[in-house]
This record gives sequence, C-alpha cells and structure tokens, in this order.
Amino acid sequence: KSRTRLVMGNWKMHGSLAANAELLTGLRLGQADPAVEIAVCAPFPYMAQVSVALAGSHISWGAQDVSAHAQGAYTGEVSAAMLADFGCRWVLVGHSERRSMHGESSQLVAEKAVAALAGGLAPVVCVGETLAEQEAGQTAQIIEQQLAPVLALGAQALAKIVVAYEPVWAIGTGRTATPEQAQQVHAGIRASLAHAGAQQTRILYGGSVKASNAASLFAMGDIDGALVGGASLVAQEFLRIAAA
Ligand code: G3H
Repeated sequence: KSRTRLVMGNWKMHGSLAANAELLTGLRLGQADPAVEIAVCAPFPYMAQVSVALAGSHISWGAQDVSAHAQGAYTGEVSAAMLADFGCRWVLVGHSERRSMHGESSQLVAEKAVAALAGGLAPVVCVGETLAEQEAGQTAQIIEQQLAPVLALGAQALAKIVVAYEPVWAIGTGRTATPEQAQQVHAGIRASLAHAGAQQTRILYGGSVKASNAASLFAMGDIDGALVGGASLVAQEFLRIAAA
C-alpha cells in the first residue's frame, strides 16, 4: 500500500494529569517506525500537557471535536485555531458518540471538517451504522448518507481528510467487525472517495481494536490503520497495535 498506516488513539473522556503523564511516557518509549504514524486524541483540557509531553517525538496529537465556527459567542466551544495553537494536527469529527448523544448531523460534521481544514488541522471524519441498521442490511446506504456532505467538499479537501469507519455495534463492545466485513465497507468508501477525486485518502477501522485482532484487520487492502478507544489507554497495548 502506498498509503502510510495511521494508528490513532481516542482517549474519549478518560484520563487525569497523573494518568496521562504515565501513558505519554510509555508512548514515547516506543520505537518510531516509518511505516506507521501514531497519534492520540486527548480531551481539551489536556492539550497543553500532551503538546509538551510529545513535543519532538514521532507521535502527533489532536482533539476529539471542534467547533464549526472560527470564533465568536459560542460558549463552551473550541475552535480549530485554538487547537492548532497547541500543535494539534488532527481532530475527530462526527464520532458516533457525538452524532448520537449530541445530535450532530452529517451536515454539521462536514461543516466541522471545513472549519478544521481552515484552521490547518486534518479532520478524521467518523462514520458507521448502528446494530439495527446493520441487521436491516442498510450499512452501505447509511455510510453513503453520512459521507455525502463530506464528499461534496471536493478532491482538494478530501486529500487532507482521514475517514474512520466505526460500526456503532463494535464500539466498546468487544465485538469487532470481521476483517472481511470491514474490508467490504472500506472498499465501498474507497470507491466513493475515488469517485469524488480522492485516491490517497486513508480509511481507518475503529471498534474494539486490540493487539490481538489488529494484524488481521490491517492485512485487508483498504484498511489503512485504526481508531482505537479503550486499548489506547494502555501504552503497551496501543504500541502493540501500532506494531501490528
Ligand atoms: O474512537 C474509537 C472508537 O469509538 C472505538 O472504541 O476501541 O473502545 O471500541 P473502542
């Protein structure tokens, strides 16, 4: 594959100054490998801590959400420029937990991706179907709907975006999509990206990725890495995923 692998941790709402310090020290001990990029997405209050701890290392960092607005009277929101100030390279947009618990629409997710790009960050656009949708055979259709406003941003934007496929039924459940199931969805996403003019966009898989299942997922032609939740909170486990 000509696309460099990307293994990204999403800490979600976990951590403390003390726990992060230990985790970050552990991550820095891992060997840099030119074949894989490693990144972590931390909660907003810890961005300064992460930026100091990872400065000069081979690991990049980002946030888990961003405002669709550049600045203004938006109490509680955080702009892309603020994240860029702390050296963030990435930001997750449209994680299923944001879509389901905060009512984020696919249109808003695309607006957040635009705001991220304008602020110099690379958005990681998350998509994925629920269990009910999967059982109803609607996976392809749901992914297409979720991606449509992002695909409309055009080839130039898409070249800088990362897509993460996370079936909702596999997130935090211990139930991973089989490599073949994930590959099928990734191939579909790849085809829509190519249709929109993006050839090199990386597509990550997320949902109960662990060191024990990472290699079989990464062996698939259209899986370019992983977005890791729970297993990214333990340095050794996360590094083992990256090494896979
Ligand atoms: O963003 C990460 C995903 O939601 C996956 O979480 O690895 O804990 O299943 P998980």
